[in-house]
Amino acid sequence: MDHFNYRDGALFAENVALSRIAEEHGTPCYVYSRATLERHYRAYTQALGEHPHLICYAVKANANLAVLNVLARLGAGFDIVSVGELERVLQAGGDPAKVVFSGVAKQPAELARALEVGIKCFNVESRPELEQLNAVAGELGVTAPVSLRVNPDVDAGTHPYISTGLKDNKFGIAIGDAPAVYARAAELAHLNVVGLDCHIGSQLTETAPFLDALDRLLLLMERLREDGIELSHLDLGGGLGVTYRDETPPHPSDYARQLLERLARWDGAENLTLLFEPGRSIAANAGVLLTRVAFLKPGESKNFAIVDAAMNDQLRPALYDAWQAIVPVDARKERESAVYDVVGPVCETGDFLGKERKLAVAAGDLLAMRSAGAYGFVMASNYNSRPRPAEVMVDGDACHLVRRRERMEDLWAGEALLPERGASR
Ligand code: LLP
Repeated sequence: MDHFNYRDGALFAENVALSRIAEEHGTPCYVYSRATLERHYRAYTQALGEHPHLICYAVKANANLAVLNVLARLGAGFDIVSVGELERVLQAGGDPAKVVFSGVAKQPAELARALEVGIKCFNVESRPELEQLNAVAGELGVTAPVSLRVNPDVDAGTHPYISTGLKDNKFGIAIGDAPAVYARAAELAHLNVVGLDCHIGSQLTETAPFLDALDRLLLLMERLREDGIELSHLDLGGGLGVTYRDETPPHPSDYARQLLERLARWDGAENLTLLFEPGRSIAANAGVLLTRVAFLKPGESKNFAIVDAAMNDQLRPALYDAWQAIVPVDARKERESAVYDVVGPVCETGDFLGKERKLAVAAGDLLAMRSAGAYGFVMASNYNSRPRPAEVMVDGDACHLVRRRERMEDLWAGEALLPERGASR
C-alpha cells in the first residue's frame, strides 16, 4: 500500500497533486511520500512485535538525507556499504550505534571512521578483511564489534545481477569455512564477535529461500555454540521484494512470522536480537519519477513516446530490463490510446523507461513512473551531461524540495583545464 492515488482522475502524492509538483519543481523529478516510507518501516517493526529487533534500512536504496532523517526519527538503524553512506546517516541525524557496515572491500580509512563514531557492527565478508579490521582497531586502541557475513549457498530465485547468496557470488564467507573464520575472529585481540549475517539477494518474492538460509545459519550457530562462541544477534539482510507489476511478495508480517516460528526451536531464541536490512521494500513504492512527454514519434514498426527522463535518471530498465508501471498524471484528458516505447533523450538504444506500453498521451503530458523510490535517484548519473533531477518529499499537504535539481555548473564542478603549454610548471 502506498499514498500515490488518483482523485477524480488526477494522480496525487498524499494530498498534493503531482501536476502541481511538476509546475513548481519541473521535470524530471523524483517524488517521495513520507507517509508511505513510515508505513513500510512500521510494517517491519510491527511484524517483529516484542521480539528484540533492529531494522537497519539499507541506505543504498535511497540515500537522500530527508529519507534517512524520516526513518531515523522513527528509531531506524541503517545498513551502510561505504563511508559516504555513513556520513549521510550522521548528517541525517541517524544513530551510529544502530549502524551495520556491509560491503566486500571496506578500506582502512572507512573502518577507522566507523570505529571512531562507534557503529553497532561490522559485517565482515572475508578473512583478510577480518585481519585488517583487527589491525585498524588495534591502532586506534579500540575493539571492533563483528559479525561474519556468510554465504549460505541458497538460490534466491531472482535476477542474476541482484542474487548474492550463491557460492558463485563474490559476497560473504562460504558457510563451510565460517567455523574456522569465527575461531580466528575469537582469537584476535581487537575484535568482539557479536553476530552472524547473511543477505541472499534482492527482490525475493517467496519466503522459502529466506527460510532455507535461516536453517543453514541455525546449524552454523549450533556448531559455533559447541565451539564456545555465543552470538547476540542474527542479521538476515534485506531482499524482500515489492510489487512492480504482478509479483505477490510476502508481507513483512508473513515473512517475520515464518522466520520467528522457525527460530523458536533455537535454545535462547527469545534473547537473540534479529536484524534486518530492508531497502527496496521500504523505499520503492514510496516514490515515483515524474516526467513530461516531449514528443510523440510514430514509427513504421513502433511508436515512441519521448520523455524528458532518461536512463541517466532511472537506470533499472536499461540495466536489468526491469518493468515499472508508467501512468498518466492526469487521466481525465481525452486522448487516443496507442502502444508506445517510452524512451528518453540519451543517445543509446538501451535508453528506455518502458516498452510496449498502452498509453493515452499527447506531447506535453505528464507521466509518472511508479515504484521509483528505491534504486532510482541513487543510480542516476550525469551521462550525456544531463544534470540529475530534483527530489521532492510530500508530507500530507506539504511538499518539500529535498534535493535541488543540479545546475549546469554542477556538471563540471571539480574539473580543471590544462595550463597553456610552455607556461611555468
Ligand atoms: N543488505 C545488503 C548487504 C545488500 O547488498 C542489499 C542490497 C540490501 C541489504 C538491501 O536489499 P533490498 O532490501 O533492497 O532488496 N540496484 C538493484 C538492487 C541491488 C541490491 C543490492 N543489495 C535494483 O535496482 O534492483
